[in-house]
Amino acid sequence: MSAPLTGQAVTARAGVNIALVKYWGKAPARGPEDLNLPAVPSLSLTLDGLTTETTVRFAPELPNDRIVLDGRELDPAALGRARPVLDRVRALGDLASPFDVVSTNHVPTGAGLASSASGMAALAAATARLAGLELSPGQLSAVARLGSGSASRSIFGGFAAWEGPEARAVAPPSHWDVRLVVAVVDAGPKDTSSRDAMGRTARTSPYHAGWVSQARGLFDEGLAAVLARDLPALAEVMELSTLRMHAAAMAARPPVLYWRSASLAALEALRALGVQGLVSGWTMDAGPNVKALVHAADAERVRGALAEVAGVQRVLVCAPGPGVSTEVVARDAAW
Ligand code: DP6
Repeated sequence: MSAPLTGQAVTARAGVNIALVKYWGKAPARGPEDLNLPAVPSLSLTLDGLTTETTVRFAPELPNDRIVLDGRELDPAALGRARPVLDRVRALGDLASPFDVVSTNHVPTGAGLASSASGMAALAAATARLAGLELSPGQLSAVARLGSGSASRSIFGGFAAWEGPEARAVAPPSHWDVRLVVAVVDAGPKDTSSRDAMGRTARTSPYHAGWVSQARGLFDEGLAAVLARDLPALAEVMELSTLRMHAAAMAARPPVLYWRSASLAALEALRALGVQGLVSGWTMDAGPNVKALVHAADAERVRGALAEVAGVQRVLVCAPGPGVSTEVVARDAAW
C-alpha cells in the first residue's frame, strides 16, 4: 500500500461487458462482503468503445460522498448502490474522507447500453488507486462486485469468468477476432432493473431452481468453446443461457418479460442469415435489445440485416475491448 493521493485526482476507464453465459441470481449473503455473490457462474466479453470514465478526489469538506454522473448529481438511492464500493475502499485504506466523483458514460446516445458494470468497475479502480491501495485485478474485481455483480467482470479485458467473490481473466481481446453486433430495440430505461428482476425470479419463479442447477454445465461448455474459438458451440450455449434465464424470469410472479416483437424479429433475421451459412450466437439481457456474436468478417453483413428489421432503432458493432485502466491527474481535472 502506498500513501493516499490527497493532493491529486485519479481517472479510471472501464468498458461495458456483455454476458455470454448469464449471471442471474445471488448466493445468500452472510455479511457486507458477500454482497452480490453469484448463484451461478458467468462468462463475458468486455467491449471496446463503450466505456465509463470516472475521476475521483478526496473531499473532506463534503458532508457525504458525491457522485455526478453525466452532469447530474446522483440522488441518495442511486448513491446507495455505489456506497458499498466507497465504504470498502475507505475500510481497506483506513480512511474517513468522503469521495467527490465525476463520471461520464461514453456510450452512444440512445444505445440502451448504459451500464452499471462499467460504472462500478471504473469507480472501484479510481477510488482504490486514489486511496493508495495496491490491489490485484482479482481483489479489485471483488470491490467492484459490491456495487454491481456484473462489474466484477469489467475489470478484465476480452473474455472473463466469474464464479465466486471475484472474476478472472479467461482470454485477452486479441484471443479471437469476433464482434458483438447490438440491435437496439429500445434505448429507454428498463421497466424492471436486473437486480429487482433476479430477486423476484429467485423468490417466486418455479423454474429458478432448475436455472441454478443447469448453470454450471452451460458455463463449462461456454468456457471450452471460448478457449477453442468454436463459434457454433458458443452460439448454442449463449442462446440456451439466454432462453433459460428469460424463461425463469417470465415465470416469476408478477412476470418479468423483457421481450418485444422487434426482439423476435431480430432473431428471425439472424436465423435467416444462419440458413445462408452465417454463424452467429445471440444473447439478450434485462431488456429487449438483441446482441449477436459473429466473426469479424461477418459483422457488416449482420449489421445490415439487423438494421432492416422493423422496430430496430440502430445497430452498433463492438470489438473486444481492454480491461480497466487508471491514471493520476490534476486535482481539479474534472471540476
Ligand atoms: C442480465 O450485475 O446488473 O446482465 O448484481 O444486482 O447489480 P446486480 O445485477 P447486474 O445483473 C446483470 C444481469 C445480466 C446478466 C449478466 O450480466 O451476467
